[in-house]
Amino acid sequence: MRADIITLLPQIFEKVFDESVLGSAVKNGLINIVLHQFRDYGDGRHKTVDDTPFGGGPGMVFKPSPLVNCIRDVRKLDVPAPVIGLTPQGVPLNQNLVKELAEFDRIILVCGRYEGFDERIIHEFDFQLSIGDYVLTGGEIAAMAVIDAVSRMIPGTVGCRESVVQDSFYEGVLDHPQYTRPSNWEGLEVPSVLQEGNHALINKFRRSRSLLTTAVSRPDILASTDLSDSDKEIFQNLISPED
Ligand code: ADE
Repeated sequence: MRADIITLLPQIFEKVFDESVLGSAVKNGLINIVLHQFRDYGDGRHKTVDDTPFGGGPGMVFKPSPLVNCIRDVRKLDVPAPVIGLTPQGVPLNQNLVKELAEFDRIILVCGRYEGFDERIIHEFDFQLSIGDYVLTGGEIAAMAVIDAVSRMIPGTVGCRESVVQDSFYEGVLDHPQYTRPSNWEGLEVPSVLQEGNHALINKFRRSRSLLTTAVSRPDILASTDLSDSDKEIFQNLISPED
């Protein structure tokens, strides 16, 4: 996948895309990140990209022309791609949307700053995306989050496919808890079923922990998850245990 990022701060991405899982994905050619400094499209000698808001108020607003000219040029550089504005007003990012974004050969992410974009450029976006109900100082950290989550869905990025499929949210439930040695740490025992090696029982235990955690912590996502018959049986057992 190719991800084009339009930003005033291209330098802050370098470290993130250099290291760890994302760094290897970039090195292995699984993801190609292309950064675009849109100040190059700014007006006049000072390459101005922002101005005060009409009607008054705090902060600065991105002028329409520099950003739109940059978006239009970036669109033309490669295969067609959705242009995604990162804003707190956007559709909330979730794992389903992450999976859908991972299907594209290319995405274009536009990072805002200041008080936002001039409203008249909004039609240049195919849609706007938010990474949560809080306001960041700009879209750069949101773009990093989007690329991090999307690249995990690209086969080969995360070493073990099974680990992605078991992710929290992947199948509409949170991940089960994990334990490692020692089996007794500060008096806290690892559940015995995990130490006994019966894989059918281990799977059942993990699934029931996933379902229980999701029901307690995120009943909203559980409500929209299709539960299998064995999931329903697990819930039934939690309500009225067999023995
Ligand atoms: N820019 C500022 N806040 C944001 C958010 N919550 N999500 C995406 N982009 C943003």
